[in-house]
Amino acid sequence: MSDALTFIDTNLGRFREELYDFLRIPSISAKSEHDHETSRAAHWLAARMQEAGLEVEVIATEGHPVVLGEWRGAGANAPTVLVYGHYDVQPPEPLELWTSPPFEPTEREGRVYARGSADDKGQLYMHVKALEAHLATSGSLLVNVLVLAEGEEEVGSPNLVPFVEAHLERLACDVVVVSDTGMFAKGLPSLLFSLRGLAYFEIHVRGARSDLHSGEFGGAVVNPGNVLSLIIASLHDDQGRIAVPGFYEDVVDWDAETRERIAALPHSDDEFRDELDVVALGGEEGFSTLERLWIRPTCDVNGMLCGYTDEGAKTVLPNHAMAKVSFRLVPDQTDAKVKELLEAHLRNVTPDGVTVELKELHGGRPWKASIKGPYFEAAAEALQEAFGTKPVPMGGGGSIPIVVEFEERLDAPALLVGFSLPGCNLHAPNEWLSVENFEKGIGALALLYEKLGAQAGD
Ligand code: BES
Ligand code: MN
Ligand code: MN
Repeated sequence: MSDALTFIDTNLGRFREELYDFLRIPSISAKSEHDHETSRAAHWLAARMQEAGLEVEVIATEGHPVVLGEWRGAGANAPTVLVYGHYDVQPPEPLELWTSPPFEPTEREGRVYARGSADDKGQLYMHVKALEAHLATSGSLLVNVLVLAEGEEEVGSPNLVPFVEAHLERLACDVVVVSDTGMFAKGLPSLLFSLRGLAYFEIHVRGARSDLHSGEFGGAVVNPGNVLSLIIASLHDDQGRIAVPGFYEDVVDWDAETRERIAALPHSDDEFRDELDVVALGGEEGFSTLERLWIRPTCDVNGMLCGYTDEGAKTVLPNHAMAKVSFRLVPDQTDAKVKELLEAHLRNVTPDGVTVELKELHGGRPWKASIKGPYFEAAAEALQEAFGTKPVPMGGGGSIPIVVEFEERLDAPALLVGFSLPGCNLHAPNEWLSVENFEKGIGALALLYEKLGAQAGD
């Protein structure tokens, strides 16, 4: 084991150069004009996985390919670990807000700035390097390993559940490991106990056959912009709760132990507020900020489109208004139920004179971990050894919808071990990954593979 850690130490410079090459490929899954680049990222990754000692296949799907790497030398009695990550990234716009270009990785003050550095190429690559460290030194691992990298996570993984279903035997495993989340704070390694689900919609309100003069017609024709505002305003009550009838029916109250653990974390509302540059925080009454972020559902407008928004005034009565509205879900909510409830609510609150259409864009179920058991303990020990601090359990406000699908379909628990840091600008301009975490994280993952191997498989 110490050989693997020494190998990591002596090869870090090369690992970083390779990561930069990976980050230079603009694998933006949402944009079809980038399909060639996205595919190039898959093949680039496959080649590096092969060099690391895995048997690799790039498997086509209806969308972007899945890269599947395997090493099965540990034998049938050893546990099998499925590592999941994604090689696609979010669009980088607005470009002018990046200090250095998104696809030219640049190091400043111990951080690698680039789109995908933290989410998720950097973290996925840490696994490849941890595996390489073992295979290049002792030539073997104590676990069988499958690395599954997808290229569609940022667009809702539309082809991954069918892929998993079609490869159930090949993907059979004892534990799933995902590094696509963060640590609670710098120097404080973390293990996730939850992820929120997602129900993402477009709400379209349509009125007259065309835009109209707002003097000639205003007052006698129902304005879709006004109605959309009314709809959005109807989504919350004055206590910050979501006012769609029935919305909380499936929301499970979390156990006192988890809430105590959350309360014990070193969090300051004042620092959080100042870091975000807002004058006050807001949310559902009766819950702390961390609870609001991790264990309570949300409803947020993500975008709106309506009428005249260019320079100066134009007196127009728009005939169409659209909002993108997403809900973050907690156990046991489902996006299908939220859609039904929202449809009924829209029918109720929409006045005559316009039509409303609800389109679902993404859905994904929430996840709650059992933070117990030998695999979880193995991860806690690996993090403690690598970072010199005992890891804390934390929640994840974001969504990785495939996690719960893996757990159920493969009947294996998921370990979420992430290395990004608060403020690292996921999905925003100037995304970064801490160089220290890249280094320590590779060591932690090498230790994790070792410790998972000490557990009996089935
Ligand atoms: N890695 C994130 C998810 C994440 C971020 C989880 C921070 C926990 C903390 C992932 O790449 C992501 O961005 N997921 C999307 C969902 C997807 C369906 C588009 C999200 O959460 O918005
Ligand atoms: Mn991600
Ligand atoms: Mn993401």
